[in-house]
Amino acid sequence: MSTCRVCAGPVEEFFDFGRQPLSDAFLPPERTEDEFFYRLAVGICQTCTMVQLMEEVPRERMFHEDYPYISRGSAVMRSHFETLARRFLAGELHRPDPFIVEIGCNDGTMLGTVADAGVRHLGVEPSGGVAAMAAQRGVRVRTDFFEASVAADILANDGPADVIYAANTLCHIPYIDSILKGVRELLAPDGVFVFEDPYFADIVERASFDQIYDEHFFLFAGGSVQAMAARHGLELVDVERLAVHGGEVRYTLARPGTRTPSPAVADLLAAERREGLTEPATLRRFGTRVERIRQRLTEVLDDCHARGQRVVGYGATAKSATVLNFCGIGPDRIDFICDTTPAKQGRLTPGSHIPVRGPEAFASPYPPYALLFAWNHADEIMAKETAFRAAGGQWLRYVPEVHLA
Ligand code: SAH
Ligand code: TYD
Ligand code: ZN
Repeated sequence: MSTCRVCAGPVEEFFDFGRQPLSDAFLPPERTEDEFFYRLAVGICQTCTMVQLMEEVPRERMFHEDYPYISRGSAVMRSHFETLARRFLAGELHRPDPFIVEIGCNDGTMLGTVADAGVRHLGVEPSGGVAAMAAQRGVRVRTDFFEASVAADILANDGPADVIYAANTLCHIPYIDSILKGVRELLAPDGVFVFEDPYFADIVERASFDQIYDEHFFLFAGGSVQAMAARHGLELVDVERLAVHGGEVRYTLARPGTRTPSPAVADLLAAERREGLTEPATLRRFGTRVERIRQRLTEVLDDCHARGQRVVGYGATAKSATVLNFCGIGPDRIDFICDTTPAKQGRLTPGSHIPVRGPEAFASPYPPYALLFAWNHADEIMAKETAFRAAGGQWLRYVPEVHLA
């Protein structure tokens, strides 16, 4: 048992992935001995149903100068964020002297469009390397962890925010009470707090257990988010399901009574109840599927190895750390993983020590099998790697189950 980071209720564990490294700690080849490990296990609060990790990794270990993830690495995500920025500019920000704050702006992919429109904005981003990229892009950025004290400071300097936005960031923050306190203070009386994160119901449906790793501290659902918002004097007024990153929900919170809640909120909550999303039986079934995927995936890789068939990984995702370390897959099974991110190339994957190489390594020559770790970007990757299958290659996938394509 641990204590819920939202409501202090008892959290009951439902799956243990064992000892895991930091998912984004790609290692220089000469520095593999002093890796940090923690126990990755996930549980559900018996009081408010918030799904969360049993152990917390100190934030400075995850988010720092060398944090490698960049939002601009996917064309689909670039267009996703540009579309949303334009929607804000035409909607919530279409008023005199608007102001938007983004929590976890990373390399400035979303705020870049806002900056180009000349609209007042501020990105808050603790990871110095990616924050510098945002500044380079013309985004006004503060290199800090967003929390209540930072929110108070922003309010004093810039005034209230019409929109506070966070993508794939709120679920990274265990000290969420401080975030929501800050958001409530900083938000203009009729402002909105919009955030999007992986949806627990999609994770359960696809058995996409690799969405569980150090940075994904919370796995949100409509029910748990509504309860969390209410505790902090905010109301869940809209939800929108998104196809990106393997299934997400975009939540909109506002001060109670300032917006009419959309029918989509009640619909989502009803579907979660109908499907028994937080029932013990559902969580047990999830665990059984995860074990089966581990077994099948290791069998297929053992078989390739026995037949002398090379397997290359595609996408050195943070998610892949859970798969590789939980399944015990190392460089004896996967030659290397190709990835477009400069800060990951030439390094080794955390815990499993598989080399990461640039995308050009994929075709020289094509392997018979490619294990798709960046499965959430499958459409984008398939569209540009058609020559791989034309050359006889096969994609090995493990979501929602192990299969060749
Ligand atoms: N929003 C981007 C980046 C997501 S990665 C996208 O969706 O592509 C998560 C980001 O959150 C990282 O850049 C990390 O440095 C940042 N982060 C972590 N804790 C934070 C905090 N307390 N305040 C602001 N940003 C934070
Ligand atoms: P992503 O799945 O977005 O996130 P996470 O690391 O949180 O699991 O990571 C995608 C990774 O795949 C990222 O390192 C960039 C890489 N990538 C490619 O190498 N080629 C591509 O075409 C795309 C879309 C991503
Ligand atoms: Zn709780």
